[in-house]
Amino acid sequence: MAAEVPNYTIRPMKKEEIPAVLDLWRETGLSEGTYSLDTWFAHDPDGFYVAVPDSPLEGRTSNDHSSLPCYNTYTTKTDRFHSDPGTVLGACAGILQNEDLAFIGLYVVQSIYQRRGIGKKIWNAVMERIGDRNAGVNPVPSQLSNYRDRSGFPVQTSWCSIESVANEVDLSQMNADVPEVDVQVLTLEDNDVLNNVICYDADICGYSRGNLIPLLCEQKDSITMVATKTEDGEVCGYGNIKKNIKGGTTVGPLYADSADIAEKILFELIKAFPSSEKGKMIIMLIDCNQSAIKLMNRIGFKDGEDIARLYRKEEVPVKYDKIFSQHNLNFSVF
Ligand SMILES: CC(C)(COP(=O)(O)OP(=O)(O)OC[C@H]1O[C@@H](n2cnc3c(N)ncnc32)[C@H](O)[C@@H]1OP(=O)(O)O)[C@@H](O)C(=O)NCCC(=O)NCCS
Repeated sequence: MAAEVPNYTIRPMKKEEIPAVLDLWRETGLSEGTYSLDTWFAHDPDGFYVAVPDSPLEGRTSNDHSSLPCYNTYTTKTDRFHSDPGTVLGACAGILQNEDLAFIGLYVVQSIYQRRGIGKKIWNAVMERIGDRNAGVNPVPSQLSNYRDRSGFPVQTSWCSIESVANEVDLSQMNADVPEVDVQVLTLEDNDVLNNVICYDADICGYSRGNLIPLLCEQKDSITMVATKTEDGEVCGYGNIKKNIKGGTTVGPLYADSADIAEKILFELIKAFPSSEKGKMIIMLIDCNQSAIKLMNRIGFKDGEDIARLYRKEEVPVKYDKIFSQHNLNFSVF
């Protein structure tokens, strides 16, 4: 039953509201990394908007979670703390990728308050902040025509994203024997390698994400690894594995010069990340990279439904053949 909508304000999200927003997103059944919001918030602190009640909802304070039926429902030893979902009514992010480009995601309103105008108001606040920039979005199927035909995202790409899931990845079925390539953990201390990874990433995306890659290396609940050529140390791929809010793991980005190298990075990521043995593993493919699809299907990933890509002005070209899993479906163009 729809609840009475409290008086609320739409404003930029505060860092301490991340757990509440993550809980809200969990309601959608869609995935996200346990600490991805923290990383993207650090990258663009003005990129998240929320609708918050003007006064605490009746019977709840932001510190009193105990009476809520959903409190601790998902909490395990390794999950991050779950907040009172009543403290945030809705959210939307519009993360700047560079000066001219943004990406829209994390668009959600608490289910009991949906279809009462809250979502569109948050969306409009995000759009106002983005201004005249080009922007991308990955609509769920039910929102595709809304964004494309009513919200000014008319450019639909010929390719789709696919969220693929593996119940279990059998390491013994994977080929990690690529003798001319070394894979190691990427840390902030490896200054030279880190700079080379930033250049490698920029070559694939077409613009630099110089502050994002170090944030990714520092992300809690995750490991980043880099592949270099044994001969001369040249970077030929990198990847990140992280825990997700569904109790499994997500791999992304996974960028590499070839499927062999992507497979070796994935093998080492799984081996180095104990949580990957439990729960499902998610990767985010692009259906125009057939060698990525072939590789992931061979090692046990099953393709989910197609996710369209829309842009406001024009498609953003990248080196699709090097993308074996996208960075993030809520916050990143690739
Ligand atoms: C999508 C969602 C955030 C919209 O929030 P909401 O508060 O329910 O939406 P509103 O009440 O403001 O919408 C009012 C109207 O504008 C439409 N609308 C909402 N956001 C819109 C947008 N960004 N562009 C165009 N139309 C939009 C709605 O469909 C609705 O139209 P209708 O009355 O013709 O059906 C909410 O329904 C939700 O959380 N859904 C589940 C999560 C989800 O699917 N998120 C989208 C991921 S891409």
